[in-house]
Amino acid sequence: MKVFYKLDEWLNFRKKNEFDLLGFVPTMGALHAGHLSLIQKSILDCNKTVVSIFVNPAQFNDPKDFLKYPKSLETDLKKLKDINVDYVLVPENSVLYADDYKYKVIETSLSKVLCGKNRPGHFDGVLTILMKLFHIVKPQKAYFGEKDYQQFLLVKEMVKAFFLDLDIISSSTIREEDGLAMSSRNQLLSPSEREKAATFHKILSQNRDKHHINEELQKNGFKVDYVEEFFSRRFSAVSIGSVRLIDNLEIS
Ligand code: PAF
Repeated sequence: MKVFYKLDEWLNFRKKNEFDLLGFVPTMGALHAGHLSLIQKSILDCNKTVVSIFVNPAQFNDPKDFLKYPKSLETDLKKLKDINVDYVLVPENSVLYADDYKYKVIETSLSKVLCGKNRPGHFDGVLTILMKLFHIVKPQKAYFGEKDYQQFLLVKEMVKAFFLDLDIISSSTIREEDGLAMSSRNQLLSPSEREKAATFHKILSQNRDKHHINEELQKNGFKVDYVEEFFSRRFSAVSIGSVRLIDNLEIS
C-alpha cells in the first residue's frame, strides 16, 4: 500500500500511470465497517483502489463539530493495509483549498432540503471537495454509502450535470447488531447515549406516518431535526446530546 501525504506527489504519480479500472472511496477517516465494505466492493470491482482520508472543513457548518470530528489516521492506515488497498491519499488542506474556497460547486434544489436545511452550506462543501478529488484521482468508479443517501443522490446528479466520465455506485447501509447505522460519529456517544441511539432505527422502521415517528422519537429523548419522506424513502436526522445522527430506509 502506498500512502501519499503530498498532493503533488500523487498528481505526478497519476500523470505517469494509466489504470484500466481505478476505484475510489473518499472518506473523512475514522474508518468503520461501513467504509471497509465500500472499499472491499471497489477492490472486487476494480484493478486498483484509491482511498482518500481528508476531514473537509468546508462541509462543517459548525466549527465545533469540525474540531471534535474523530481522527485516527494510524489505525485507519492499518485497517486499509490489512485489506490490501493500493493507494491512500492524505492530502493537505492548504493545497486542496489554495483558492481559500473562493470557488464552489453549488446545487440549488435537493441540497436545500433535509440535511441541507439544517446544515447551511454543508452540501456545497461536500460537492466542492468531491469535484476536486474526482479531478485529482481520475477514477472510473466511486463508491458511496446509502446512510448518506441525500449525498449519494447529489453526487450522482453532479457527475451527470458536469459530464464527468465516472460511475457513482452506492452500497446499502451497514448496521451494528442492534440496528444503529455505522457512522464515525457513533464513537462520540457515551455508553448511555449509545444505548438510546439503537432505538433510532427501530422507531424509524415503524409502519406509521412521519408525524407519529417524529413524536415517538421526541418521546424517546431525541432532538428531532426532521423526519421526511422522499423518493419512497423515509429520512431522519436527530441529536442525542451534541451528537447528530442520520438514517434513512426504504418505505413501501
Ligand atoms: O461522506 C463523507 O465521509 C464525506 O462527505 C465525503 C464524501 C468524504 C466528502 O468529504
